[in-house]
Amino acid sequence: MEKRALLYEGKAKRVYMTDDENLVWIQYKDSATAFNGEKKAEITGKGRLNNEITSLLFSKLHEAGVASHFVERLSETEQLVKKVNIIPLETVVRNVAAGSFSKRLGIEEGKPLSKPLVEFYLKNDDLGDPIMTDDQIFELGLANEKEVALLKEKALKVNSILSSFFAELGINLIDFKLEFGKDAAGEVLLADEISPDTCRLWDKETNAKLDKDVFRRDLGNLTDAYENILERLGGPQHV
Ligand code: C5P
Repeated sequence: MEKRALLYEGKAKRVYMTDDENLVWIQYKDSATAFNGEKKAEITGKGRLNNEITSLLFSKLHEAGVASHFVERLSETEQLVKKVNIIPLETVVRNVAAGSFSKRLGIEEGKPLSKPLVEFYLKNDDLGDPIMTDDQIFELGLANEKEVALLKEKALKVNSILSSFFAELGINLIDFKLEFGKDAAGEVLLADEISPDTCRLWDKETNAKLDKDVFRRDLGNLTDAYENILERLGGPQHV
């Protein structure tokens, strides 16, 4: 597989074309951003950790029957994925109140929810990723009723697999964000990444935060927290 021209550079990743029109080459960067890019830092090792953790979690999901864009990890910071057209929605699943949910609704952080909730946000940095209702999604033509139902179903399936998996490792999966895309055949695939950048992960015993809140809220060393997650997942796999 050959790496070709840069297709797109985002806040955390670079996407390159390959010699296969259906595959793209992703490189995870060491950049950390929060609050819609207002807070920024370069953190050595972050790209490697997110690439390793995402690769392990997508492999785990694949074993459990969840189709994703992930093909293989290529190096410490790179992976090969299927090319998809990203649906411009961020799908968030919450098991426990935290973050923007707690802030917006005045609900104490750490309060378990009676059942997992799915929320959608518009992927638009200029607008600050506003939360959307299903009707607003239909109005903007971002997805139809069947697709929204499919996204919810897939997101809840990912939640049940990952919640049990993390629980075995002594970690509470508080909430997380997913992105989905459509491949050349129009199939909806889980895409982007699943890492401590996109999940809230709390130690079951101590409630210590092992995710990007460490950076957002200046709670300590981000790579120590991510390294802790990677070790519990079984450590880096050889490529
Ligand atoms: O900030 P909020 O509480 O809405 O975030 C919910 C979950 O989605 C958190 O795990 C957060 O890390 C993730 N998220 C993300 N990218 C965003 C917004 C939220 O990964 N742009």
